[in-house]
Amino acid sequence: MTLTGSKAHAGPVAHLRAGGVSLLADLSAPGLPKVVHWGADLGELTEPQADALIRAATPGVPHAGFDTFERPSVLSERLRGQAGPLGVSGRRGDGTGWSVHFTEQVGSAEMPAGVAGDLGHLAAVAEDPASGLRARSELVLHDSGILEVVTSLTNISDTVYQLDGLTPALPVPATAQALLSLSGHWAYERIPELLPISFGVWQRDSTEGRSGHDFPIALTVCEKGCGWRHGEAWALSLCWSGNHRHTVERRPDRTTWVSAAELILPGEIDLEPGETYTAPRVLAAWSDRGLDGISQRYHSHLRARDGHPRSPRPLTLNSWEAVYFDIDERRLEGLAERAAEVGVERFVVDDGWFHLRTSDRRGLGDWWVDTDRLPSGLSQIAGRVGDLGMELGLWVEPEMVNLDSDLAKAHPDWILQMPGRLPREGRHQQVLDLTNDEAFEYIFSKLNGLLGQYPISYLKWDHNRPLSDAGDRYARPAAHRQTLALYRLLAALREKHPQVEIESCASGGGRVDLGMAQFCERFWASDTNDPLDRQQVQRWTSLVLPLEMIGSHVGAPRAHVTGRHADLSFRAATALFAHAGIEWDLTKLTSEDLDFLRRWADLYKARRALLHSGTLIRSDHPDPRVVVQGVVATDQSEALYCYAQVGTSRTSQPAPLRLDGLSPARAYRLKVEDLFAFPRTVARSAPPWWPGPVEITGKAARAVGVTLPILAPAQAVVVHLASI
Ligand code: DGJ
Repeated sequence: MTLTGSKAHAGPVAHLRAGGVSLLADLSAPGLPKVVHWGADLGELTEPQADALIRAATPGVPHAGFDTFERPSVLSERLRGQAGPLGVSGRRGDGTGWSVHFTEQVGSAEMPAGVAGDLGHLAAVAEDPASGLRARSELVLHDSGILEVVTSLTNISDTVYQLDGLTPALPVPATAQALLSLSGHWAYERIPELLPISFGVWQRDSTEGRSGHDFPIALTVCEKGCGWRHGEAWALSLCWSGNHRHTVERRPDRTTWVSAAELILPGEIDLEPGETYTAPRVLAAWSDRGLDGISQRYHSHLRARDGHPRSPRPLTLNSWEAVYFDIDERRLEGLAERAAEVGVERFVVDDGWFHLRTSDRRGLGDWWVDTDRLPSGLSQIAGRVGDLGMELGLWVEPEMVNLDSDLAKAHPDWILQMPGRLPREGRHQQVLDLTNDEAFEYIFSKLNGLLGQYPISYLKWDHNRPLSDAGDRYARPAAHRQTLALYRLLAALREKHPQVEIESCASGGGRVDLGMAQFCERFWASDTNDPLDRQQVQRWTSLVLPLEMIGSHVGAPRAHVTGRHADLSFRAATALFAHAGIEWDLTKLTSEDLDFLRRWADLYKARRALLHSGTLIRSDHPDPRVVVQGVVATDQSEALYCYAQVGTSRTSQPAPLRLDGLSPARAYRLKVEDLFAFPRTVARSAPPWWPGPVEITGKAARAVGVTLPILAPAQAVVVHLASI
C-alpha cells in the first residue's frame, strides 16, 4: 500500500496493489476506508496523482438531496443518507444506537494512528462514541489479486448492543450491467442465472444453517457480453457455512454495491460490553479476462494456502451407490478387492456402518461400529483395505441425530429445538446442539476415538438436513453459534489428526463454501453422478474451487438420481476433470468395463499432476450444446482438454475446438487420449487427422483449432497436448 499522506492517519489516499489489481481508498476524513476503485492496476501513483484521481472520481451534487457529497465507507452509513447496503444494523434496549457514524480514528500500540498499511494491506479502526461502537476494517490484497475483506464490530458502551447485521460492501462501476448468480437444488447445484442489474436491491437470503444447495459461491457482476475468456467481472465469495445474505444494489445515484454477509437472526448476536463480532471474511476477485480470470484468482489463492492438498489426489472408491445400507464384511471386502484391481487408492465406507444404521431412519448419533454386520468392528475391513494397498475413508454425519438412536434416547435435550417443540424432521433426523458443551464433547470423543482406533485417513463429513427452529436449550437462536461450534470441532479433530483429510458433503453439494475450505480438502459437488448434469455442476463449482478440491465419481451406467443412461467413456471423461473416484458396484462389472476402468485409472494418475496444478480454461464455444474445458500447465508445456457434447447440436458440423491458453510461441503434439478415441458419432467418417498425433502451434490452436468427429449427445473427447 502507498499511504500518500504525510501521516497514515491524515493521509488522503491508500493505494493497494497486487496481482494486477489496484484498490484505491479515500482516507481523507477520519473513519473507515472509502473504496474509490477496485479493479485494474493503476500503476505507481504519486500523491498528487492519487489525489487528483479521487477528485476526478467525485461526483457533483444533484438537486433535492444533500448539500455535499459523502462517499460511503466499506460499512455504509445508509441511515445518514449514504448509498449502499446498511453497514451496521442494530440497536440498544433503550432504542438508541440505530444510527451509526464512525468519526473517531482510534489508535493502539500496534497502530498508533488508527490506520496502518503496506503495499497489500490496509487496516483502520474507528469509533462512534454516540452509538458506543468501534469498527475495524481490514483490506488485504493478496498476490493472487484476491481482495480479502475482514470486518469486526465491538461494543464499547456499557449496555448490550443487539446486532442485526454487519455488512461490508464494495462499489463496482456502472459498467457492471449483469448479475451472475448461482443457484440450484439437490442434485443440480450451482447453476447459473444471468440477470440485468436493475435499480433497487437484488437479495438472496438463506436460513438453512448451512450454505445450501443454492449458495452463490461467487456472487458475480460483470460487464455486458462478459464470457469465460473476456470481459470485466467482480465476484464475492463468503467464507461462511451458516445463514447468509447476498445483495446487489443499484441506486438512483448510479452507484452499484455488492455485498456478502452472514444473515443474523433476530436476537442472535447480543454484544455484551466489550464484546466483538467478526463478520465472515469475504474474498473478492476482479478480472478483466472474463470468468476464467475470476477462477484463476480464486484457484491461485487457494493453492497458495499452507494446508492446500498437495499430495496426489487418491483415486477413490465410495461405497454409497455401490451397496447403500447393505453393508457387511463380505460385501465390503468384495468391493475393496475389485477396487484395488482397477487401481483405486482410497476406499471409503459410506453411510451404514454404525449402530442401528440399516436405513436412513435410525442410528445417527451412535458412532460405534454395528457389530451385527461388522463383527470385528472396522478392523477386518481396515486390514483388508490396507493389505490391498489402499487408504481407508469413513462417512460420518456428526451434527445430526435420529430420534431412533441411543443418543437421542439418553439426551433428548441435546437436540436443537425450541423447548417443547421439535423441529420438522428432514431425512428423518434432527440436529444436535453443538453449542451445548456436553454434546460437543460427546461427538468429539466419538470421532477422536474412531480416528485413534482405526487407520482412517479420510472422513466424508455429511449434513443432510437444513436447520429450522434451531434454538438452544435456553430458546435462543443458535445457527450462528452452531456454525462456529462446527468449525471448532473440525479444527480440534484436524489438530489431533493432522493426517486425516476431510470431504465436505451436505446431501451432495449443500455445503460447498470457502468457510468449509479452511478444514476440507475435498467437496462432494453433487449427489448426481449423471455426467450430463455433472458437466454443469462441476463447471460452475470450479468458478471458485480448483479441480483437485472437487470430488467426482464414475457412477453406474444408469444414473441413480436421474435414471438416464450414459456410456462409460462419457462418465469417465467427466470424473477425470476433478478429484476422481468411482461409485459403482464393481463386483457386477463386465471384464470389458473393468478393463476400461483400469486404463482410466492409469490415465488419471498420469494426468493428475497437470489437472491439479494447471490453469483452468473454459472456452466460449459457439455451440451451446458443447462444454469445453482444459487445463494448461503453468509453464504451458502441456495441456489436457475435454470437449463434451451435452446435447444435439443445431448444426451438422461441429465448430472447431479452439484451444485457449497455450503458448503462442510453441508447437505442440496433439493427440486424442486412447481411451476416448472411439466416441459414438453421428457421422460416416472422422476428420482426417483423427485421433492424431498431429503437430499444431499454440497460435494456430487458438486461432483455428481442430475439428472433431460429429459426436452423438452425451459423448466426450479428451485431447492431450505436449510441447515439442
Ligand atoms: C448424502 C450424500 O450426499 C451421499 O453421498 C451419501 O453419503 C448419503 N448422504 C449417505 O447417507
